[in-house]
Amino acid sequence: MVVSGDYPHLHPAVRPFVDEATEVRVRRIRTDRWIAYARANAALAAMEDLLTFPKRMRMPNLLLVGPTNNGKTMIVEKFRRAHPALTAVEAADGVAVLPVLRVQMPPGPDEGRLFGAILDGLGVPFGPRDRIAAKQDIAVRMMRATDTRLLVIDELHNLLSGTSMQQRRLLNLLRWLGNELQIPLVGVGTAEALRAIRSDDQLVNRFEPFALPVWEDDEEYRRLLATLEAALPLRKPSHLNDPVMAGRILAAAEGVLGEIIAVVVRAAVLAVETGTETISARMIEDAGFIRPSERRRVAV
Ligand SMILES: Nc1ncnc2c1ncn2[C@@H]1O[C@H](COP(=O)(O)OP(=O)(O)O)[C@@H](O)[C@H]1O
Ligand SMILES: [Mg+2]
Repeated sequence: MVVSGDYPHLHPAVRPFVDEATEVRVRRIRTDRWIAYARANAALAAMEDLLTFPKRMRMPNLLLVGPTNNGKTMIVEKFRRAHPALTAVEAADGVAVLPVLRVQMPPGPDEGRLFGAILDGLGVPFGPRDRIAAKQDIAVRMMRATDTRLLVIDELHNLLSGTSMQQRRLLNLLRWLGNELQIPLVGVGTAEALRAIRSDDQLVNRFEPFALPVWEDDEEYRRLLATLEAALPLRKPSHLNDPVMAGRILAAAEGVLGEIIAVVVRAAVLAVETGTETISARMIEDAGFIRPSERRRVAV
């Protein structure tokens, strides 16, 4: 039974979970959750701005740039959830709406595959042998019909797996799509994606880069650790934002957000399973953890 005032190190909504069975708590700890941080909020606000931008010939675009596993897709998914689709049955006028459409740039990119990805995102069936022009036509008509107001192209760096000819054609296509639909585009990718965009004189002026750099030991990082700690149902405080702990976690994660979260989650699971109920600096090291760069070395 949780008495009010217990577990002050936890977010009030998390306190009731500390008395759950071990397996239940472990599952809860491992479940993805949204942790807010200033840079993510700023990116969400920038996308919100784009969404309310009046239609005009040249719409502004955004490019979320950062290393792999650093929270880019989580941000655009958070944004998409904030602007949910309505099915035809749910919509007041009986017409389905899909305000934010997210697609992934396919590897080995060509126009047919990109339109295929868009049609998949729209939930429109198509045949593998449908002509590109036909797919393009349906995709554009459906995006208009469902009132798509913002198109997110994730994994934009996949562009670079194409020949330079394919790259140019796809960049032209993106430019054309934005103009034709008069909607803003949000590109998402690594620094290589930025390089690809920069190779196109006309696109470079229209994509405003928004950087999501690797994390450093600063106030924002300490706040992230505090938020994370408050979200994990351990019975004792761990003081993750103490300088030594914060430093170890950052080093183990090599500054990448997905790894920061993964390291802490693994240590929290250990804390529950071993009954210590608090994460120690030692546990961060002992969490059976291989650094991202070492893992890459192991993988090859
Ligand atoms: N805001 C966040 N809150 C909680 N966990 C996050 C957040 N952002 C990223 N993560 C964690 O990091 C992992 C990688 O994030 P992701 O958005 O897929 O990275 P990217 O798209 O930059 O490669 C996610 O699976 C999640 O576990
Ligand atoms: Mg991603």
